[in-house]
Amino acid sequence: MKKLLFLIFNLLFFISCYTSSPPVSYFSRDLPIPPLLEGTLINGETNYKFHVRKGKSQIIEGVKTNTYGYNGNILGPTIKVRKGQNYRFKIHNNLGERTSVHWHGLRVPGEMDGGPNQMFIDGDYWEPHYKIEQPASTLWYHPHTWHKTGKHAYMGLAGLYIIEDDISDILPIPKEYGVDDFPIIVQDKRFDRWGNLIYSNEHIDSMYGMRGDTLIVNGIFAPTLDINKKYIRLRILNGSNASNYLYSFSDNRDFYQIATDGGFLEKSNKLKKIFLSPGERVEIIVEFKEEDKKKDIYLRGDDTNIMKLNVMNLDKNIEKIPNTLVDFQEYDIPSNVKVREFILEGLGHMVAINRRQINMNRVDEYVPLNNIEIWEIRNIGTSHGGMMGMRNMMGMGNNNNFTNGGKSLNGHSFHIHAVQFRVLERNGQKPKAFEDGWKDTIFVDLEEVVRVAVKFEDKGLFMYHCHILEHEDNGMMGTFLVE
Ligand code: C2O
Ligand code: CU
Ligand code: CU
Repeated sequence: MKKLLFLIFNLLFFISCYTSSPPVSYFSRDLPIPPLLEGTLINGETNYKFHVRKGKSQIIEGVKTNTYGYNGNILGPTIKVRKGQNYRFKIHNNLGERTSVHWHGLRVPGEMDGGPNQMFIDGDYWEPHYKIEQPASTLWYHPHTWHKTGKHAYMGLAGLYIIEDDISDILPIPKEYGVDDFPIIVQDKRFDRWGNLIYSNEHIDSMYGMRGDTLIVNGIFAPTLDINKKYIRLRILNGSNASNYLYSFSDNRDFYQIATDGGFLEKSNKLKKIFLSPGERVEIIVEFKEEDKKKDIYLRGDDTNIMKLNVMNLDKNIEKIPNTLVDFQEYDIPSNVKVREFILEGLGHMVAINRRQINMNRVDEYVPLNNIEIWEIRNIGTSHGGMMGMRNMMGMGNNNNFTNGGKSLNGHSFHIHAVQFRVLERNGQKPKAFEDGWKDTIFVDLEEVVRVAVKFEDKGLFMYHCHILEHEDNGMMGTFLVE
């Protein structure tokens, strides 16, 4: 009964919103570009400082929303590092509660990884340091707080982490940050009538993860990006807690994918749509022409316009989109290769990997250093018939995510810390070009099996988990020890 009243109240509120208050202006604000974090070089190490805090932001213009951020009010500065260099961070916690900072996709020793075993309390700081040992790529950082990663990330804690190297220097691609090379952090949020973020404990949100009805880019709703170059590069991160998106442009134009999670592809990949599950990244190049100046062009997530592209100038920044990018050294997989199986199962509080939930005092997998292994990840859905019934009831059959974007709710986004792997097979088939590169997070839809080849080159204790953050918080995570 209470729920019903609440629903009616909400309905009335929304009706009154749409009829009486001034309309929310769409696409009137410029896309915020997170500042690059500035460091100082001390004894051969670049030192970076930042802090974790609470703040207030206008995700929606004119509405003040309580958020969390690194340095600022929401999200965090972009960290740009170079392969082969050494870095040291001093991260202060002013959040009022414990948190951790995890480098998603970065190869680091276990003690520098920032998992739930490396939380630091309010008023304290954490000082990780490491050398960058991997190629140019678009990674990110976010909290990994025990049982609260979902809440902390949802409130705004996330930032981009870019690695450059000699190859990315040389490649003829857009590379001027904020000019023709843009971070695009896409997230979905839900607001209450006072403009605060709802982080719901409703059954459905725990079941399928927290999904919003408002898509935001770089911390604001409905931004516009002014285009001044003929070619632009977008580094898109699906930073949503649980939602998958199929990204495209409103005019159905072609674009070229140049990178997966962990770096460049061998060849640029012409596409009209690309799928990203939570935690995944992609880099694309888009070309603009004279006639685009008169058009309204939008970046879309599924069927929603999420960002307007306003073509102003077409200054020529590169000749053309390169076809070949980098050479991969394919793994030689030994015939006696170790194959580990990971069975993803359940939803909500019933989630499990290999029938278990996380226990930080247990090592789930002992992994020898520098070995290549095959990890086989299988999503068996749920053995409880009830859920199947529920799915059908809600009209969410086993449809294919790669064409349906966020509409299918039964996939899991499997992530392994501190490695980049290669997809060997998806359901027995060779991977399609869009995922035939370095990956650290892989979507496994209901009843799918994905086999990846992975090499463990850093020692220590790490996590693997579902990147639907509510699933992770509910225990859909395991530990592995590399030694
Ligand atoms: Cu992006 Cu363990 O996480
Ligand atoms: Cu990670
Ligand atoms: Cu999951």
